Amino acid sequence: MCGIIGIVGAAPVTDRLIDSLKRLEYRGYDSAGVAAVVDGHVERRRAKGKIRALEAVLDQEPLVGTVGIGHTRWATHGAPAERNAHPHRAGRVTLVHNGIIENYAELREELKAKGHTFESDTDTEVIAHLLDHTLDSGLEPLAALKATLDRLTGAYALGILIDGEDELVMGARRGSPLVVGHGQGEMFIGSDALAVGPFTNRITYLDEGDYVAIDHRGARIFDAAGAPVTRPERIVSAAAALVEKGNYRHFMEKEIHDQPDACQHTLSAYVDAVNAATVSPGVDFTKVDRLQIVACGTASYAGMIARYLFERLADLPCEVEIASEFRYRQPALAPGALALAVSQSGETADTLAALRWCKTRGIQTAALVNNHESTMAREADVLFPTHAGPEIGVASTKAFTSQVAALTAIAVSAARQRGRIDAHEEARLASILLETPRLIAQAIATEETVRQIAGDIAKARDVLYLGRGAMFPLALEGALKLKEISYIHAEGYAAGELKHGPIALVDEATPIIVIAPTDELFDKTASNMSEVIARGGRIVLITDEAGAAHAPEGARVIVAPACDPVIAPLVFAAPIQLLAYYVAVQKGADVDQPRNLAKSVTVE
Ligand code: M6R
Repeated sequence: MCGIIGIVGAAPVTDRLIDSLKRLEYRGYDSAGVAAVVDGHVERRRAKGKIRALEAVLDQEPLVGTVGIGHTRWATHGAPAERNAHPHRAGRVTLVHNGIIENYAELREELKAKGHTFESDTDTEVIAHLLDHTLDSGLEPLAALKATLDRLTGAYALGILIDGEDELVMGARRGSPLVVGHGQGEMFIGSDALAVGPFTNRITYLDEGDYVAIDHRGARIFDAAGAPVTRPERIVSAAAALVEKGNYRHFMEKEIHDQPDACQHTLSAYVDAVNAATVSPGVDFTKVDRLQIVACGTASYAGMIARYLFERLADLPCEVEIASEFRYRQPALAPGALALAVSQSGETADTLAALRWCKTRGIQTAALVNNHESTMAREADVLFPTHAGPEIGVASTKAFTSQVAALTAIAVSAARQRGRIDAHEEARLASILLETPRLIAQAIATEETVRQIAGDIAKARDVLYLGRGAMFPLALEGALKLKEISYIHAEGYAAGELKHGPIALVDEATPIIVIAPTDELFDKTASNMSEVIARGGRIVLITDEAGAAHAPEGARVIVAPACDPVIAPLVFAAPIQLLAYYVAVQKGADVDQPRNLAKSVTVE
C-alpha cells in the first residue's frame, strides 16, 4: 500500500509530484522518490523517510522536467532504505509500484540468469527488469507492457517512464487501485482521486487488469486482454481535495473534532429529519435472513457494535468476522444472506477479497464505505455511503463513528421493514439518532479532563480496556487506538471476562479504562470495578453523570453526556479517541503517521 502519481504536464512537474505525494502519504511513508524526463533521459531522486526528506534531496539536486512519476512507500519486501525506494530503474525503464508481486523470486532468478543485475531487495525491481528485457525483443512500449503484465502474479498499480519516450507515462492496475486524471492539455495517473485532486476533478477509474498510456493527447486504455476500451469519465466531488489540517496540530485531532459534522452528514443520508423516520438504504431486509459483516481493524469493531443493534432491534441474525480470516475459511452462507463489507477506504485487500468471495457465490453484497469511488463501492451490489469526508490520520476516528452512525440507522430501518418496531418506535429512534451530533460535541468537551488523565496513562507499560454489551467492541477500539499511535501495549476485554484470566494482570502499574454508561449492565460492570480496586488496580471510568455518582473510590472519572443506549457507542467513542490522542502527544509520538502503519492496507 504505497501511493503513486504520474504527470504528463505542460509545465515543470516536480512540485506537483511532491504535492500529490504529500496527499498520498497516508498510504505509506517509509521512503519516497520522484523521476522526470530531463533532456531526453529519465532522472530520479529518492530518500528514506517522509516526503520532507525527499524535498531536502531535491533542494540539493533539483529535478526539472514536464513528465514525471512519484511514489511514497510502505515497505513490504526490503527494509525502508534509499536503495529500496521507488522509482526503480532497469535499462530504459523507470517505474513506481503499489502492491506485491508474488512470483518475483522466480522471475528474479530467471532474469539474473539472463544477465540482469539487481540493486534492491524489492519485488518491484523485477518488473522494471522484465519490462526492459521485453523491450529488448523489439516490442513497442505498450506491447512490451502487456507481455510483462501477463507474467506477473500478485497485485500492482504501476506508473512507468521509458527512456526515449519523452511524453509518455504508462500505467496498469490489478488488485491495487489506479485512476486517470484529465486536465487541460495535461494528463495524470494516481492511486486515487486525492492524488490528482489539486490538478483536476475529471477522473476515470481503471478496471481490474486495465493498462493505460497517457500523453498530451489524452489516455489510451486497454483491458487485460489487450483490447482498447473506453472507461467512463466522472466528476469527483470537491471533498476529495479537502485535506487541510486547519488550526489543529494533527489530522487526528481535527478529525476527532470533525465528528459531529461527519455524523450529521452521514445521518442525513439515512434519517429523514422532517418526518422522523429512517430512509430505506436500498436493501429489502424482509428478504434477508442473515447479515454477514466483514471488515478489518477499526471497521470490524464498528461491525461488532452493529451486531448488537441488528439482532436486538431487527431480530436479524448477524455475524461479524475479520475479513482476513473470512476469506480463507470457506464459510457456509445461504442465498438469503446479505454480505456487508465495512471499510473507510473501500480498498482494504482482505475486505475486498471477502466481498468478492461472497459475490462469486451469488450472495447479495453491500459495501459501507467512505470512499464512494473505491473498488468496493463499485463492485458491491448496494452502496451504503458514509459521509465523513477524507480521513487522513492513520488512526480512524470520524470514519469509525460515521460507520457506526450509518449502521445504527440501517438497523433501525431493517427493524421497521421486518415489522419488529412500529412507526412510533422508529420515530423515537430516528429522533435519538438526530441528537447524536450534539451529544458527540458535548463528549468532545471532556477534552481537558482527558488530557490531564493522559499524562498518567502515558507512563504505563500496559493498559486494559473493559466494557460490556456494545461497549465491549468500543473497549477493543480504545485498545487498538492506544496501541497504534502511542505504542503502549493495550488489550480490550468484555468486562465479564476479567475474572477468567486478565485479572491476573491487575496491579497498581496497570491502568484499567472502564467504559460504562448507565444502562442495564452498569451494575455488573460496577462489580468488576470493585474486583479491580480490591486488587490495587487503578481505574479510569468513562461514564455519564449518574454513573459518576457510583464511581469507586480512587477512580478518575471522565463524564460524557447521558444518552440512549442505542447511540452510546457513538457518544463514548470521543473520550476514548481523545485519550489515545493525548497519550501519543505526551509521548511525542508521530500521531498521524505512526511507525510501521499505513492508512490504506491494499496488500494481504
Ligand atoms: O479502510 P478500512 O476501513 O478498510 O481500514 C481497515 C483498517 O485497516 C483500519 O480501520 C485500521 O485498523 C485503522 N488504522 C485503525 O485506526
